[in-house]
Amino acid sequence: METVALSLTGLRPGDSVLDVAGGTGDMAVGLARQVGRSGLVVLTDINAAMLAGGPRPAHRRRARRQRVLRAGGCRAAAFADASFECVTIAFGLRNVTDKARALASMRRVLKSGGQLLVLEFSKPTTPSLQALYDAYSLRVLPLMGRLVAGDADSYRYLAESDPPPPGPESLLAMLREAGLENCRYHNLLGGIVAVHRGYRI
Ligand SMILES: C[S@@+](CC[C@H](N)C(=O)[O-])C[C@H]1O[C@@H](n2cnc3c(N)ncnc32)[C@H](O)[C@@H]1O
Repeated sequence: METVALSLTGLRPGDSVLDVAGGTGDMAVGLARQVGRSGLVVLTDINAAMLAGGPRPAHRRRARRQRVLRAGGCRAAAFADASFECVTIAFGLRNVTDKARALASMRRVLKSGGQLLVLEFSKPTTPSLQALYDAYSLRVLPLMGRLVAGDADSYRYLAESDPPPPGPESLLAMLREAGLENCRYHNLLGGIVAVHRGYRI
């Protein structure tokens, strides 16, 4: 799914990109490949441990060779207006309490013509896909949690307590309300995930 999102960034060598809620930096490594050594990737996350760590040393080495900066804090608010050609947030927006403010702040740091790209869980397009998704998160994940980590309850709690993702149309409306233009979305995996995009004109 990150691969699809990356293919839609339109980034070119030399561009600057902000990855909000970037976690351990999987997306940032792909972004760094796109902008090359003359570009810049800035990764932010609310969780300092995520920024500091990461389970994939090879990724981290590659990110160091390219220009990936890890900045503390979770918001785009720390950056100057019109700093980036692209802002991405992958599987992070549903955890943000004030989504309108966060989206407005991501728009503000985009250069004119720059693109915001949101990759997020969404609404499966058919009841059978919804049932499949519920079975996966409420049954399969806890089972895997028990087998791998010996802890089914935490995985069940995670699935049950995760904030529900906004539906695709409602997220599209939020992007428009934040002042983004030419907004659109693509469903992936039958709507289990969607990628939303909008531009600062
Ligand atoms: C599911 S992970 C996604 C990480 C990464 N973007 C990826 O696709 O692998 C969600 C990330 O959002 C971060 N996060 C949670 N709440 C946040 C918030 N309010 N603002 C910014 N980041 C947040 C978490 O620390 C975590 O790293």
